Amino acid sequence: MPRYVIDEAALKRNLEILKSVSDRTGAKILLAQKAFSCTETYPLCARYLAGTTASSLFEAKHGHDNFGGETHVFAPAFDEREIDELLGLVDHIVFNSPRQIAKFAEKARSRGVSTGLRVNPEVSVATTPAYDPCRPGSRLGTTRAALDNGERFGVDGLHFHCLCEQGLDELKAVLAGFESKFGDLLPRMKWVNFGGGHHITRDGYDVEGLVALINDFRARYPHLEVYLEPGEAIALNAGTLEARVLEIQPVGDDGIANAILDTSAACHMPDVLEMPYTPRVVGASIPRSPFPVPRSPFLYRFGGPTCLAGDVIGEYAFEHPLEEGDMVVFEDMAIYTMVKNNTFNGLNLPDIVIRREDGSEKTVRRFCYGDFSGRL
Ligand SMILES: Cc1ncc(COP(=O)(O)O)c(C=O)c1O
Repeated sequence: MPRYVIDEAALKRNLEILKSVSDRTGAKILLAQKAFSCTETYPLCARYLAGTTASSLFEAKHGHDNFGGETHVFAPAFDEREIDELLGLVDHIVFNSPRQIAKFAEKARSRGVSTGLRVNPEVSVATTPAYDPCRPGSRLGTTRAALDNGERFGVDGLHFHCLCEQGLDELKAVLAGFESKFGDLLPRMKWVNFGGGHHITRDGYDVEGLVALINDFRARYPHLEVYLEPGEAIALNAGTLEARVLEIQPVGDDGIANAILDTSAACHMPDVLEMPYTPRVVGASIPRSPFPVPRSPFLYRFGGPTCLAGDVIGEYAFEHPLEEGDMVVFEDMAIYTMVKNNTFNGLNLPDIVIRREDGSEKTVRRFCYGDFSGRL
């Protein structure tokens, strides 16, 4: 059975960087659970972060019950059949439009929940359109024009989320757009949420620059609380997916042998197909296309055991031949994997394993036939 192995030492390294940002700026950093919701690690994460943010009732309940601290929620539209339960779980609720505010904000306020509006600063910096909330026709966030034409609204805070795996320069561009479009509203607000997509824990991220930027913002708006809600940055490079080679097919006309693994891009790492991208593999290089005759002669195309022709993880060059039964280790597999995986074709889900700082391992979840059939 393949395994997601979450590395607590790596997680802690990330959390320490994030805590140093909040300690030096006063900004509160939340875990965006959509990226990483591994319950077993929540007590550790909760020692470093201010709370969680959620995209739904279930995520809000998960954060509220297992993480503690502050619980925030944003959704493009809330369902009135769920709103009462949701308001019993969250401290902040962020609405997507003045219409949503008109529907639900009064109720939220009466339950003591702080209200916010997600705005769209219309600064497109995300490189993939599917991950760009500022793309033309976006349904995410209210533009300034829509606000000026829209209904009256009153909220405690503004929220923007425009980044995707990005650095300080992109944040600067977005913040400048946000302030130029919505700055006149800030005197009335209590907080601003800078969203997620900040790759703060990536090697080379300008952490000092981020601290300076937040401190500068807070000096200009001392009455505002600042929130950041990264997901990826919390568990970046903090987990692997271990899989095995089931079968190696003969080398094809293109010089590459298909290797069928017991893990699937479609089921266990859907972002490989959705983003798309080729994940790194320990001990292998990713040859550039068109293939230069690589120094290493052992080329494999990794694919899953499903029926989907496109269930291809990527092409890899090894220094040695692979054999059936060999283990293959995919890097950076803690984020957007366990939260997105599925059992297409009846494929079982990988175990979830925590590797403690002392090197010991604990399998926290092993899935079975009942997890597959019970859902259908
Ligand atoms: C509103 C919101 N906040 C936070 C995040 C977390 O983003 P990331 O995991 O890229 O940091 C997302 C991701 O889509 C989001 O939509």
